[in-house]
Amino acid sequence: MHVLHWLTERAHRVTSPDEGYGSTEIAQWYTSYSSSGKGRPLRNDVAALLEICFHSCSRVGTVLDVGCGYGPHIDVIRRHSSRVFGIDRSLPLLGRASRAYDGVIYGDATRLPIQDGSIDAVVSTMTFTDVGEWATLISEAERVLVNDGWLLLVSPHPCFGGPAAQRIAGGDVRVSGAYSSASAWGASSFPRGIRSKVGSQPTTLERYFEPFHSSNLRLWDLNEGLGLKDGPPSLLATVWRLCP
Ligand SMILES: C[S@@+](CC[C@H](N)C(=O)[O-])C[C@H]1O[C@@H](n2cnc3c(N)ncnc32)[C@H](O)[C@@H]1O
Repeated sequence: MHVLHWLTERAHRVTSPDEGYGSTEIAQWYTSYSSSGKGRPLRNDVAALLEICFHSCSRVGTVLDVGCGYGPHIDVIRRHSSRVFGIDRSLPLLGRASRAYDGVIYGDATRLPIQDGSIDAVVSTMTFTDVGEWATLISEAERVLVNDGWLLLVSPHPCFGGPAAQRIAGGDVRVSGAYSSASAWGASSFPRGIRSKVGSQPTTLERYFEPFHSSNLRLWDLNEGLGLKDGPPSLLATVWRLCP
């Protein structure tokens, strides 16, 4: 119950207002794109990888879904836990999430309104390219986890899920020299889909793993979903355990 208390006390403190998903129009578009439109297969792949991640850590108690959006993965999380909270800084997306679930709150992933050492597992899906301060998200996740707690991440694959990875004939991918170029991640590189509307943070493998070097989070499992389908992976899932 003390976790709920914290959420109520500090839920209004969002340091970085969301200009992308914070727009009602974009939130509406994103919800239908990802739940019933062209983004649906990707959403299903994320859910499948999240299921696989949970097999590494088995059933857990309280889970916090950081950057939960409209809550597309809360059902999966519920199957593996006894209590789920979701946090996001997009009010329109949270409005949708709260119609289906209780326990969703407004807040900043880089300044979680949660007590130290109070969460059994943190989940975050598809936030690597959205939360500018990735390293801070990871350190905040570490702070709120109990000892031996779990961090489950499903993200666009840094190597094969960005603008440098051009899908070519036969399902192959050609990785261009733009791999580490921040400008390649501008909205103009994504003429269709969510990135053209909300922009995107550059992703490289280095940026993904860097925050963990100075943490007490240990890599427990890594999955690129290669068993789910053929071809280069567009997603990367990792499971970390807090081992102080
Ligand atoms: C691509 S969406 C992913 C939503 C959901 N997790 C999913 O898998 O569909 C990225 C989400 O991150 C949220 N987000 C971005 N920066 C954030 C921050 N600093 N604090 C909280 N949420 C943030 C956005 O509002 C959005 O809901």
